[in-house]
Amino acid sequence: MSTNPGGQPKVGAPTRDGSPAGELEIISSEVPPASHVNDSLVIGLSIVAAVCGLVFGVTITLGGPLPLYGGALAIGLLALAYAVRRFFTDRYPEIEAIEPRLQFTDMGMTDEESGDLAEIHPVGRRSLVRRMLIAAAAVFGAGLLAPVSTLGPRVGNRLRQTAWAQGKRLVTTEGNPLRPDDLPPGGVSTVWPEGAIANEFASTLLLRLATEPEPPTNLDWVVDGSVLAYSKVCTHAGCPVALFRERDGALFCPCHQSTFDVVRGAQPTFGPAARALPQLPLGLDDEGYLVALGDYTDQIGPAYG
Ligand code: FES
Repeated sequence: MSTNPGGQPKVGAPTRDGSPAGELEIISSEVPPASHVNDSLVIGLSIVAAVCGLVFGVTITLGGPLPLYGGALAIGLLALAYAVRRFFTDRYPEIEAIEPRLQFTDMGMTDEESGDLAEIHPVGRRSLVRRMLIAAAAVFGAGLLAPVSTLGPRVGNRLRQTAWAQGKRLVTTEGNPLRPDDLPPGGVSTVWPEGAIANEFASTLLLRLATEPEPPTNLDWVVDGSVLAYSKVCTHAGCPVALFRERDGALFCPCHQSTFDVVRGAQPTFGPAARALPQLPLGLDDEGYLVALGDYTDQIGPAYG
């Protein structure tokens, strides 16, 4: 094998089409010694990453505290990343070489010279370390699938059918039935179906408007000329619509500032909500209390399916 003036070997490098090319002139070649410290570090970090993956998966499935599974995720990712980094560090030789411009004289390389390049091997990988790293990545990756279990049960018909039904009285959170006169002009109250207080899908806002409602409000479902009720579940993402501005009949959702015009069928006038709040069919029973004439006829909450 030929050498350069500094005593470093010259090796032949084949070109892409397999024909011999110029020689690689190796400036320096440093093969790091096998390091047990590095291997131990990779194994240790792999174990940490695997344990953190397990902790993340278990705590998020069992509904553990955010700092715990968030911390496990962060530490696990860091440990895995550093283990990969250390696995490849100190494992391959650092070779600094230059390839001189191709000369005609280089075309006469011998097989011995062109085969020298193949003699440069990375340090053999230790299978234990590699397996540990792969196992840690697998366990950690499996842990990341745990959030799938938190998606909860299928919604089913719960957004199409609520606890409202014909004849159900509207009651306050304290359970008191309401008559139209219980609300002053411009007044608003959160109401529930009797027997289903705090059923969030049925939460409803009862309003007495200061002005007469207009279409597309369903005027058949307006009592006493100005008392009506809308679903409290925002049609954007399901937050409870809560803030009422009597001056212009604007109902606000605090989550993303969707605004609904309660005088005109709770149509959205601002923000990301695209659908009106469903209106509850409203009437009076024999004793003069406000009752539902049936369930909502439109789907409550965000549109889906
Ligand atoms: S949930 Fe109401 S605006 Fe987004």
